[in-house]
Amino acid sequence: MSDSSLNPESINDPDYRDPELYRNEPVSFVRRGNRLQGRRAKAWERNAERFIIEPERKRADTSVADDQHLDLEQTFARQAPLIVEIGTGLGECIANAAKDDPASNYLAVEVYRPGLAQLMLKVESFGLENVRAIQANAPEVLDVMLSENSADEIWIFFSDPWHKSRHHKRRLIKSSFLDKVARILKPGGTLRLATDWSNYAEQMRELLEAHEAFENQFPGNFAGEESNLTQVRRQGLEKEESDPDFIDEQGGWAPRFERRILTSFEGKALNSGRLIFDLAYTRKA
Ligand SMILES: C[S@@+](CC[C@H](N)C(=O)[O-])C[C@H]1O[C@@H](n2cnc3c(N)ncnc32)[C@H](O)[C@@H]1O
Repeated sequence: MSDSSLNPESINDPDYRDPELYRNEPVSFVRRGNRLQGRRAKAWERNAERFIIEPERKRADTSVADDQHLDLEQTFARQAPLIVEIGTGLGECIANAAKDDPASNYLAVEVYRPGLAQLMLKVESFGLENVRAIQANAPEVLDVMLSENSADEIWIFFSDPWHKSRHHKRRLIKSSFLDKVARILKPGGTLRLATDWSNYAEQMRELLEAHEAFENQFPGNFAGEESNLTQVRRQGLEKEESDPDFIDEQGGWAPRFERRILTSFEGKALNSGRLIFDLAYTRKA
């Protein structure tokens, strides 16, 4: 995955809208090539039939036709707790998590085929049996393919930030999306988020605090001086003007989730001096 392909800034036209809209909402990803080469192409050929779930589509190749409900027991050939990771990128996190936790089923949802091919390489090298992947737009996967109360955890790490205000409408984490997550998560299940954009982190916190289905697992945690938000704003770490008097009184940030390994994407964010925000919310009964 090249830097330019990950960067929403590659859309230069401020009025850009994806031609393939899902329920009149712009999608949260940038359309990128499906072409596979070399090791990734071979890994795909060897493993796609077994590990990639191929739903019927509407018009767009990342869409999901209305009747494509997924039978999880058949798909994984067993019943087990389900962890869904959305936007798996190169599959680093989900592959490691699945290796360390063979008793659970892991479902990767990602629109970027080369990333899923990279995941197939890891599935092979780790000898994983408990991973399946879908190349599709996550809101449609949640709405159509997964049943109510079917997931134990949903992970969304470094969702594309769409940091310019005119692009905020493209952000994945919005109230309507949280409704979909709430439907899929079992009562007591956990939604885990991480981002390196303070403005997106604040938006996530605000939406989740306001949503009746979710409860913060760390209310008030890392508030004030301990909050990364305080540090980012005071020091102007995201290149905006610094505000020496800023204080995040609210907090509510989660400690780093120990099973969220350092991906190459997060590594680049840290190298450029960015701070990371973790959030963890329980699906209320
Ligand atoms: C910034 S990358 C982060 C990747 C990975 N989670 C990591 O931490 O390295 C965000 C990923 O989310 C994927 N993505 C964005 N919107 C999506 C959607 N609606 N459905 C599925 N995947 C999506 C992108 O293709 C991209 O690979």
